[in-house]
Amino acid sequence: AKKAVLGPLVGAVDQGTSSTRFLVFNSKTAELLSHHQVEIKQEFPREGWVEQDPKEILQSVYECIEKTCEKLGQLNIDISNIKAIGVSNQRETTVVWDKLTGEPLYNAVVWLDLRTQSTVENLSKRIPGNNNFVKSKTGLPLSTYFSAVKLRWLLDNVKKVQKAVEENRALFGTIDSWLIWSLTGGIHGGVHCTDVTNASRTMLFNIHSLEWDKELCEFFEIPMEILPNVRSSSEIYGLMKISHSLKAGALEGVPISGCLGDQSAALVGQMCFQDGQAKNTYGTGCFLLCNTGHKCVFSEHGLLTTVAYKLGRDKPVYYALEGSVAIAGAVIRWLRDNLGIIKSSEEIEKLAKEVGTSYGCYFVPAFSGLYAPYWEPSARGIICGLTQFTNKCHIAFAALEAVCFQTREILDAMNRDCGIPLSHLQVDGGMTSNKILMQLQADILYIPVVKPSMPETTALGAAMAAGAAEGVGVWSLEPEDLSAVTMERFEPQINAEESEIRYSTWKKAVMKSIGWVT
Ligand code: G3P
Repeated sequence: AKKAVLGPLVGAVDQGTSSTRFLVFNSKTAELLSHHQVEIKQEFPREGWVEQDPKEILQSVYECIEKTCEKLGQLNIDISNIKAIGVSNQRETTVVWDKLTGEPLYNAVVWLDLRTQSTVENLSKRIPGNNNFVKSKTGLPLSTYFSAVKLRWLLDNVKKVQKAVEENRALFGTIDSWLIWSLTGGIHGGVHCTDVTNASRTMLFNIHSLEWDKELCEFFEIPMEILPNVRSSSEIYGLMKISHSLKAGALEGVPISGCLGDQSAALVGQMCFQDGQAKNTYGTGCFLLCNTGHKCVFSEHGLLTTVAYKLGRDKPVYYALEGSVAIAGAVIRWLRDNLGIIKSSEEIEKLAKEVGTSYGCYFVPAFSGLYAPYWEPSARGIICGLTQFTNKCHIAFAALEAVCFQTREILDAMNRDCGIPLSHLQVDGGMTSNKILMQLQADILYIPVVKPSMPETTALGAAMAAGAAEGVGVWSLEPEDLSAVTMERFEPQINAEESEIRYSTWKKAVMKSIGWVT
């Protein structure tokens, strides 16, 4: 068979909360050539706790690399064309491992986990100076969401972690650090690093000086020697070194040269490089980020200030305002795994389509409290407005609507903070293949929703960062290069009044979910 003629290729690991993917792109056209995806288990050992196995996560990365390489082989594409690898990852999720054995010392404590609620309450009573101590340095509210409190919990409660810290064997990292350390050799010289975007989600990182903050580490009592080195989002961190797996080993020696938290990666993948450009990604949660350029803008309406990206050691840093919604795709998984009303996530669209309305049913999926704009740890999920007429189709529809209403809340906050309302919403992520969801989103926001034909923009962003790194130089970040990306547009189809009525009823439901636990 004829060998396809291609430019240099770039691979991207996209390690999300629900699944891991490895994708390979043509650096000249941004075309996705092949990919493989593996679902990741989530463990709920106690009410409010969410954990994952770091080794399963790593294994899923190997599996995805192997399977993607196999698929490329079937397409007659030579994997030696892969010139760089980028990593994008679920953010905040916290791992501590032993640098001598390579073994994790506890499960990964996932960003959604609520076990640190009392830690947060206690810490907030002893914030030095004024309430802005944490927020002014990190851009984040003191919340269970971020890594510092999860790490504090591990240090307080896990003997193995305490011992390893005393014996100088412990390394801390978010998922990017764990993966890069493992993929660059692990106990045989693995590189312990993170990038500025991931660091900015730990609550230990000063987003102005771009360094770990000594005062914050003292406040959270975190030993600074276990923290990874902070690097830019685009530079060579190390080379792939995988000894145990033959096929994944085919990428041996390829530089890992891009690293971004998944939401930052999607911002890059959507080419939101200008001040005021925004994207919303529908994954396990839903995250709307708006590029604010070189300025750190602090929100008056419950949004976070975060590092958007820094694409090179000597390149300037960009910041973003972020609206974070904890539960989006996760509500569909819950309907599948906990209620069993669908067998696969895709079935949700069919159910919702059967009725085309929630028939007055509202579903607030506040499983992990409410994030932006409320930051209400006391909220819990509710389904209300039920009658004897309500069936599973209405509940499915209400679940999709909930994702859209939550996005509307953060879009409203973003518009208030930025002063200039967004004229349309750029979207991406797995759920955007659901056409009902996209139409509902346009109806509820009352602005057009625009989606790229290739929804894997998170991986694309990581690949772009890796390919553009100094010493790799196979990807130019100019928009003209994205010839393979076309857009699909959803226009609002209901009238503005109806959209407002539904939104105000949603808000009533939200109020009922707040204060459920004390
Ligand atoms: O902050 C958490 C976020 O990075 C998780 O992303 O794609 O797993 O919903 P995702």
